[in-house]
This record gives sequence, C-alpha cells and structure tokens, in this order.
Amino acid sequence: MTCHLLIPAAGSGKRMGADRNKLLLPLLDKPILQWTLEAAIASKAIAWIGVMGQPHDYPEFQKIFNCLNTRKPIRLIQGGATRQASVFNGLKALPADSDRVLIHDGARCLATSELFDRCDLSLQTIQGFIAAIPVKDTIKVVDGDQIVDTPNRDHLWAAQTPQGFHVDLLKNAHLTAVELGWEVTDDAALLEKVGLAVQIVMGEETNLKVTTPQDLAIAEFILKQRKF
Ligand code: C5P
Repeated sequence: MTCHLLIPAAGSGKRMGADRNKLLLPLLDKPILQWTLEAAIASKAIAWIGVMGQPHDYPEFQKIFNCLNTRKPIRLIQGGATRQASVFNGLKALPADSDRVLIHDGARCLATSELFDRCDLSLQTIQGFIAAIPVKDTIKVVDGDQIVDTPNRDHLWAAQTPQGFHVDLLKNAHLTAVELGWEVTDDAALLEKVGLAVQIVMGEETNLKVTTPQDLAIAEFILKQRKF
C-alpha cells in the first residue's frame, strides 16, 4: 500500500448555481465530497489521502472527515486559484516517501473503489495514465458557429479522473508549467506537453463529474440504483 491520493476540492459552485463549494451540497444523505472520500477509503490501493480545499471550507471538510470510519491519514491542504494550482500545492504536501500519486476530482463522487484499485495496478507498470471512456457522440470542432472539423470518433476518448503518475514526473511537469506559464485543465496535459507518454485506463460510464444541477439528479439516480 504505497499509493497516495490527492483530491482537488477547492473549487466553487458557480456552474452549479450554488453560493458555496458544490462539493458540500447534499447528495442523498451526505455531502458530495463524502461519497468521493468513502470510495477512496474503500480502495485497498490507497494508503494516504490529501484533500485540497479553500480555508473557508475547512470547518465543513473537517466535519466530513469526522464522519469517516477509517485509519487512513487524511490531510487538509490549502487549494489554489485554479485546479492546476491546487494540484501543485497537493504535490508539494505529499509525504517524502511517496512514489505513485493518483489525482481524483472531488466532484467525481461516483467513481468506485474498484476503479481506484485498477488505476493503481496500472501505475505499477506505466509512468502515467488517465481513466477515460470512448466518446459516444460525434464531436465537432467549431469556430464561432461554423464547423471546422469532424474528428474520427475511433480516436476520441472522454477524459476522467483518477489520473495517476510517478510523483517525480508530475512534480517536474508542474514546475515546468509554472516556469513557462502553461495553464491546462488536467494533469495528463502537462505530461503530454513535456513529451512524456500517458496511457488510457478504461474508466467508468457512471464516473460523471457533478457540475450542474442535472448532474446532481443523475448522480442521485445512479446511487439509488446501486443500493439494490
Ligand atoms: O470546476 P470543476 O468541477 O471542473 O473542477 C474540477 C475539480 O477541481 C473539482 O473537484 C474542484 O473542487 C477542483 N478545483 C480545485 N481548485 C480550484 C478549482 C477547482 O481544487 N481552484
């Protein structure tokens, strides 16, 4: 058990139309973030969890941690102004002996513990991966309101988290990003930009990112199905 997990949870509720961090919104009987943490705790592969949050959310986060029945260490880490900055802070807060790190968005609260375990297994033989699923829709590249390209769907995958990397590689990629002013929306993009190979691990159809009120309703439906 040497895998460390970082959970970026320092965002807001803007696209959700909420006046606070969407991860604190209730989903069935508990906050979104609690679902994410419980799946991570149930994963045999994960030994340590760091949660990046904004200081004004710390009291609520701490309340959630107190409800968790686990001996795994869970650390609060100050988040940044962007997801990328939050992950960078998390990397700097990892224990010195960490060699493999998974990054998993707090907003992907339906990921299963089996997915975390599968991801860690892959990371024992490769340097970097992302969970992803093949896209079902035909995707158009659009400029203004004009279609400029229709990429071959066979090569298109929708990126999810967990994403996982050897710690040194990801830290170096983040340092390069700070130096060169790169801004990206996921960690794999940084490894791609420095020219390192990143592989795909099959994600889960239900591993959606709760972003809008509609997503919350779908997440609730999926969780209710799982109870039976
Ligand atoms: O906003 P979005 O859902 O795309 O963010 C993805 C994840 O990154 C969320 O779990 C959110 O809490 C986190 N995040 C962060 N720090 C920020 C912005 C977002 O940790 N400054």
